[in-house]
Amino acid sequence: MVLLDGKSLAKEKREEVKKKVEDLKEREKIVPGLAIIRVGNDPASEIYVRNKLKACEEVKIHAIEKHFDESISEQELIDCIEYFNKEETIDGILVQSPLPKNFDEQKIISHILGSKDVDGFGIDNLGHLLANQEQVLAATPLGIIHLLEKYEIPIASKNVVVIGRSKIVGRPLAIMFLNRDATVTIAHSKTKNLKEITLQADILVSAVGRPNFITQDMVKEGAVCIDVGINRINNQVVGDMDFNAIKEKASFITPVPGGVGPMTIATLLENVYQLALKRKKEK
Ligand code: GUN
Repeated sequence: MVLLDGKSLAKEKREEVKKKVEDLKEREKIVPGLAIIRVGNDPASEIYVRNKLKACEEVKIHAIEKHFDESISEQELIDCIEYFNKEETIDGILVQSPLPKNFDEQKIISHILGSKDVDGFGIDNLGHLLANQEQVLAATPLGIIHLLEKYEIPIASKNVVVIGRSKIVGRPLAIMFLNRDATVTIAHSKTKNLKEITLQADILVSAVGRPNFITQDMVKEGAVCIDVGINRINNQVVGDMDFNAIKEKASFITPVPGGVGPMTIATLLENVYQLALKRKKEK
């Protein structure tokens, strides 16, 4: 069994981005800019956003956070997005998910200019993904693809099972695997006979958010196991997979923490840089 060490690869990627950002500043006098919009007081979102801001600072990406009380109106939120759409120093706009329940998240996101949709959650970028003309790709799924590439794990012709159909991970990741010629199954909370399906997986991805959801008997011998779960129990972070048992069967497995999680932020930084490069070309 080989550990898929997202922590080390993410560090490498962050260093690469830092060099590219310095170079862009020196050559073109452009500093990539990211605007993060957060609404309400979801504790996990607060931590994620703090980590994103810290990572931006490390690689010298200009990042600002606009934090609103959950009593903000939909129009005020849209006005804020429109402001950043026009702001020249901002290349990427990110609305931290989840928004409080009273907001229609996809409607809010639809106001972000396609060229600044750094999360790739807008209809434009999702359409390009579906048409196999990938442009901006969501950070967590793209981070997973980068991790597989780093360890030279082939994707084409493999049976891939993705559990979870969220906009942030499951859906875009399944299409990315399809675009790379895998045979893809998406399973979710209404799927019947899940074990029969997971046992077919050469690459098994769980993005469910329940500790010990995937047990050893659900995993094929030699499978590549990607655990996207971040679950907190007794002040400890664990994934969706019963790691200690599954590692005996898997050929590769991501630890939690230190697997997929760190790749998300590193990939977000790369996405901001790529959007800034486009700003340069359009100048
Ligand atoms: N919430 C959890 N992950 C993400 C992400 O990648 N982007 C945004 N905008 N919100 C998230």
